[in-house]
Amino acid sequence: MIIAVDGSAASGKGTLAKRLAAYFDLAHLDTGALYRMVGLAALEQGLDDKNINELQAVAITSALDLSVTPDDRIRNDTVAEMASIVAAMPPVRACLLDLQRHFVAHPTAAGGAVLDGRDIGSVVLPDADYKFFVDADIDVRAERRTKELHDNGQSVMFRHVLEDMKARDQRDRNRDIAPLVATSDAIVIDTSDKDADMVLALALAHIAG
Ligand code: DC
Repeated sequence: MIIAVDGSAASGKGTLAKRLAAYFDLAHLDTGALYRMVGLAALEQGLDDKNINELQAVAITSALDLSVTPDDRIRNDTVAEMASIVAAMPPVRACLLDLQRHFVAHPTAAGGAVLDGRDIGSVVLPDADYKFFVDADIDVRAERRTKELHDNGQSVMFRHVLEDMKARDQRDRNRDIAPLVATSDAIVIDTSDKDADMVLALALAHIAG
């Protein structure tokens, strides 16, 4: 069973993907973390869209480093912003597209996989058995992200988080290549007024038919 979970930032897509993977005992890949790894490397190495060849090389190596990089280094808004910038570059996407498809073809995913991101149902795995598109009100999402960052010990203001999120949404939805979009065969779940249990229950009900 292959499940695609796409959606906007802080919509709850990652939580749904994790819980579906645990429920069905499937492999899970957070594809946003791959783009964040490239974003982190770009920041550390001072790369931008003028160094596209270097960024491409970085995409390969940094994604392979995912298992050894502490999660907290990629969980901040500076890295998220840079991830969204590098994610609009075709060579970076091409490189990560291969990696994501290899993940699904790998023996560890033989029992099936859940991938979450922005373009899983539209580009990476258009033949997925189930596709979910998770979204929520931008104020709700910005509030969730602010709380998450506070819980991680980062001092951020709601107003700044909201502004950053709007800019990132705008870029992710309007880029030329693989923009964030709900495919016509995706089940749309609005999580604005739902907790993680309710969202999982909705997804499971859909899968059960
Ligand atoms: O899901 P996230 O917030 O960790 O993703 C960070 C950025 O990576 C997001 O703003 C856009 C990009 N991304 C993408 O373009 N395609 C994906 N499949 C996943 C993430």
